[in-house]
Amino acid sequence: MNPNHSNGFATRAIHLGYQPSDHEGALTPPLHLTSTFAFDSVEHGAALFSGERTGHFYSRISNPTLDLLERRVADLEGAEAGLALSSGMGAITSVLWTFLSPGDEIVTDKTLYGCTFAFMRHGLAKWGVTVTHVDLKDHDAVRAAMGPKTRMVYFETPANPNMRLVDIEAVSAIAHEAGAMVVVDNTYATPVLTRPIELGADIVVHSATKYMGGHGDLVGGIAVGRAEQIGEARIVGMKDMTGAVMAPFNAMLVLRGLKTLKLRMERHCQNAMTIARALADHPAIGEVHYPGLETFSQHELATRQMPGFGAMIAFELKDGFSAAAAMMNRLQLIRRAVSLGDTESLIQHPASMTHSTYTPEERAAHDISEGLIRLSVGLEEVEDILADLTRALDAPAAASAA
Ligand SMILES: Cc1ncc(COP(=O)(O)O)c(C=O)c1O
Repeated sequence: MNPNHSNGFATRAIHLGYQPSDHEGALTPPLHLTSTFAFDSVEHGAALFSGERTGHFYSRISNPTLDLLERRVADLEGAEAGLALSSGMGAITSVLWTFLSPGDEIVTDKTLYGCTFAFMRHGLAKWGVTVTHVDLKDHDAVRAAMGPKTRMVYFETPANPNMRLVDIEAVSAIAHEAGAMVVVDNTYATPVLTRPIELGADIVVHSATKYMGGHGDLVGGIAVGRAEQIGEARIVGMKDMTGAVMAPFNAMLVLRGLKTLKLRMERHCQNAMTIARALADHPAIGEVHYPGLETFSQHELATRQMPGFGAMIAFELKDGFSAAAAMMNRLQLIRRAVSLGDTESLIQHPASMTHSTYTPEERAAHDISEGLIRLSVGLEEVEDILADLTRALDAPAAASAA
């Protein structure tokens, strides 16, 4: 079989861009643990540097193991080219530093992952980029926010941590009409559940630390988009500005993770749907934010934009955060940890952890409530995840004081 673009998602995630016969029959791609590449001659080296010849010459710019990962993720996202980076924040900062200049404006959603918010507030803003947070659910507000200096519209969908969704097609159309590029953080959905480029986005960024790696054993990032833009992000943002290159060993781990991405996402979604329904029915729970629930305010958009609803759930207890903290401390299977998308179920408190980069006033203004709990539903047997949650929720109040 010649693995090509006409194969299905899982087949491409396993085979695309690699022929064992080109590598002594090795079934899995070799790991190129090298920082530099030897030139045949001085002239050869000079030609690589000038771009007259293509090839690898230094691993902060390119490396064959990363190259395969970049081509696979680009293909799975429906993009022309990809760039592997040292972390999700490495991907975000490398892309944004590449395309934004002092005096530019960026329009972004109300809610962002804590470090992305901090980068915009304390990084971009400090260097003369105006950051405007808009409720991207409100398309009239998006139109009104676009000005002659708006260079980029940036958002996550679903957003970390409160699960707000953005209509990628509608917002991309508004942004393009105003001459702005669209960058989407697709970490929560993965290309299994959403392919923003097919809906009009220009660049997609990922924390590969999460579902792509999928096993909680690496930190990595990816950006994909048109070849010209990704080339610019490689040479300007990554090579010269952030230096945030992915290590070849991590690229190999992400390549391994990709092989089961579709399979894992299907089970993640199934488990999460069961857990979300059970939480919604539990008397101690106030609100559950999960796109798959009919009660979710953007359920119609979720159904239209996502073939599955992901495995991140945000919820609140009726008795507030102290009751939630006591409940979390009673959990025995679900790990109290930040990050997401791992085989292990993980639970955390955004206000004191991932979103402590916002002030309490900023969290209030950005729709992140102080009592919100974020659950990343893992791949354990769903009955066991549910039993752990139910036991922790049902324990009498006195037990939590003990
Ligand atoms: C939505 C989202 N984007 C980006 C990041 C940053 O990724 P990394 O931790 O790999 O830098 C995270 C991390 O939690 C995230 O949740």
